[in-house]
Amino acid sequence: MKEFFILAVVAFFSLVTYWLVEPFAHGQMHAHVESEHFAYADLPALEKKGDATKGADTFMAGGCIGCHNVKALGMETGMSAKDAAAAYGVNPPDLSNAGAIYDAKFLADLIKNPAHATAVEHKFNDARFHPMPAFYGAGGDDIDQEIADIVAYLQSIAVKPEEVTPEMAFKDACGRCHAVRYTKWTQLGEMPNFKHKKDELRFQADVLDYQDAVKGYMGKLPPDLSMYIRSRSEHFLKTFIENPQSQLHGTAMPRTGVTAESAEKVIEYLEFAGDPKAEMRNEVGKNVMIFMIFFVLFAYLWKRQVWKDLH
Ligand code: HEC
Ligand code: HEC
Repeated sequence: MKEFFILAVVAFFSLVTYWLVEPFAHGQMHAHVESEHFAYADLPALEKKGDATKGADTFMAGGCIGCHNVKALGMETGMSAKDAAAAYGVNPPDLSNAGAIYDAKFLADLIKNPAHATAVEHKFNDARFHPMPAFYGAGGDDIDQEIADIVAYLQSIAVKPEEVTPEMAFKDACGRCHAVRYTKWTQLGEMPNFKHKKDELRFQADVLDYQDAVKGYMGKLPPDLSMYIRSRSEHFLKTFIENPQSQLHGTAMPRTGVTAESAEKVIEYLEFAGDPKAEMRNEVGKNVMIFMIFFVLFAYLWKRQVWKDLH
């Protein structure tokens, strides 16, 4: 009876801790942030309708391809990712699918004022410029029209938004800063299978040089994202992606401006990264089930066969 009483007391306090104290402490440490549904409501609405044909010329005149590759169109800066990071702090992303991955309103604001759109104005000022210069117009008298044209052009050269794969979304929006060990993703691309140790070491040394540049630019090395899907909820990741400042006030990580669909794709990629063997395991599980069904069937038939003779 006494033992039972002690057990009841222990159970009671364990449950109180589990249901009340822990969630309360968690709520205190990580304030709940409501999703903004990737509306980017703080950015001005797009007033002008863009013209993609005009945008092609404005894009060239705007100097974007001095820093950004557009590999889908065969435009390359000729600079390695490592050298670009040494020059700008980070490798400017390829813009082939920018029109599909990023929100149109965000793109327009980014072109006009990069630090504003990406919500890192606290890091940049008159003495320290954002590495992507603001677009000052390509000679026309309406800069907002020119920007709308560039955005329309970027959308016209991109794949359709529904064709963006998890890998594409992650690599373009996050991959220049974050490695993902589990998928062999480094900031310089997927780690190849090297034949010679020397080549592997050379690649790794380049990755370290790249990471040093990013560290200088960001103030710290962005963390490897292999396990984040497990240590943080999907809600955290979603609200963090749409506005990093909401969860980590003053953080150097820029708001990436991805659309809601692209954010889903990024999270899908991180889910896959957190458990790249999941598909294989499901496949094995299915085969085991099929094996069990046949095994039970044969065992049953065999048993009937054996018992038939004995009766
Ligand atoms: C001097 C180099 C330079 C020029 C010119 C430049 N950019 Fe960038 N751009 C960058 C860098 C560097 C970044 C990455 C900044 C970061 O991640 O903090 C970037 C980032 C971007 C991004 C990704 C933003 C995000 O949210 O992840 C887009 C889209 C982009 N630039 C479009 C353009 C367009 C369009 C133009 C031409 C109007 C242009 N850039 C001109 C250097 C440049
Ligand atoms: C220009 C570089 C850059 C880009 C692009 C970038 N990040 Fe980050 N990220 C950082 C930095 C720097 C930190 C560390 C922030 C800190 O501790 O203040 C960080 C931190 C994080 C964290 C950890 C947050 C925590 O609670 O500690 C997550 C998760 C994350 N990033 C996800 C992403 C995802 C997903 C994308 C793409 C949609 C992305 N990042 C794009 C630089 C970047």
